[in-house]
Amino acid sequence: MQLANKVAIVTGAAGGIGRASALALAKAGAKLVVTDLEQEQAESTASLIRDDGGDAIALAADAGVARDAERTVTTAVDHYGALHIVYNNAGVALIGQDGFSPDIDPEVWDRVIRINLSSVFYLCHYAIPHMAKAGGGSIVNAASSMATLPLGGMDAYAASKGGVAMLTKSLSAGCGKHGVRVNAIGPGYVDTPMNAVIWQSEELKAGFARGHATGLQTAEEIAELVVFLASDASRSLTGAMITCDRGWTATKRPDGLPI
Ligand SMILES: NC(=O)c1ccc[n+]([C@@H]2O[C@H](COP(=O)([O-])OP(=O)(O)OC[C@H]3O[C@@H](n4cnc5c(N)ncnc54)[C@H](O)[C@@H]3O)[C@@H](O)[C@H]2O)c1
Repeated sequence: MQLANKVAIVTGAAGGIGRASALALAKAGAKLVVTDLEQEQAESTASLIRDDGGDAIALAADAGVARDAERTVTTAVDHYGALHIVYNNAGVALIGQDGFSPDIDPEVWDRVIRINLSSVFYLCHYAIPHMAKAGGGSIVNAASSMATLPLGGMDAYAASKGGVAMLTKSLSAGCGKHGVRVNAIGPGYVDTPMNAVIWQSEELKAGFARGHATGLQTAEEIAELVVFLASDASRSLTGAMITCDRGWTATKRPDGLPI
C-alpha cells in the first residue's frame, strides 16, 4: 500500500481517466474525495471504492469555480484531517464549438480556459497550504499531447493544456520549500467518453489508434502513472510534463503529418 494514510482529491472523477485514477489511488491505500459536476456518477465512483474496501466520499463541485475548489479542500481536511495528493483531472473538449480563434465564441473560450486551466490554479491555491501543513505531497495536473502538438482547430483546448504544462513548471519552483511536488501528464488519445464524441465511427477510431506507435490508450494505464506520480517512487520528479502518449507526438513530423 504505497499510499496508505494519504488523503487525495480527484476532480472530474465521475468517469473516464478521473474515475480510473480515483480507483487506482484508493487501491494503493489513499482515502479519496472525488468531485464532479455529475453528482450521481461521482457518488458511484465513491461507492465502487468503498465496495472494494477503500475509503471515499463524493462531492458535487464545479472545478472551474474558485469557491467550489475551496469547499473541496475544506471537505477533504475536515473529513480526513489532512491533504497530501491532488489530481487535477476535470476537463472539457468542446468539439464543434472550439476551433480556430476567428471562429470561437469568446464565451466558449472563457469556459474552456476556466475549466481546464483556471481550475488547476484554484485547487492548487487552496490545497497547497494544507499539503504543506501535512508535511508535503504531490500534485498531478492533466495536460495533454496538445500542450505541445496541437491537432488544429481546437485553439482554446490547446492553449488551456499548454497553460497547464507551464503553470505546472512555474508552480513547482515555489512549492519545493513546502515539500510539494507538481507534475503534469500529457496523454495522447485515451478511450474515454471525451473521445466518443470524436470517434463517431469505428473507422475513425481505428485511424486515431494507428496514429500512436502502440495503439490507443486506456484510462487504467494513465491511472497507473497518476499513482506513480502521487507516490514517493517519483520523488525525483517535479516541474515535469510527462509525455505519456504511446508515441502520438513521436510519430508526427513538425507539420503534423505521420513520419
Ligand atoms: N481522453 C483523452 O484522450 C485525453 C487526452 C489528453 C488529456 N486528457 C485530459 O484528461 C482529463 C480527463 O479526460 P477524460 O478523457 O477522462 O474526459 P471525460 O470527458 O471522460 O471525463 C471528464 C470528467 O470531468 C468532468 N467535468 C467536466 N467539467 C467539469 C467541471 N467544470 N467541474 C467538475 N468536473 C467536470 C466530467 O463530468 C467528466 O466526468 C481531461 O482534463 C482531459 O482534457 C484526455
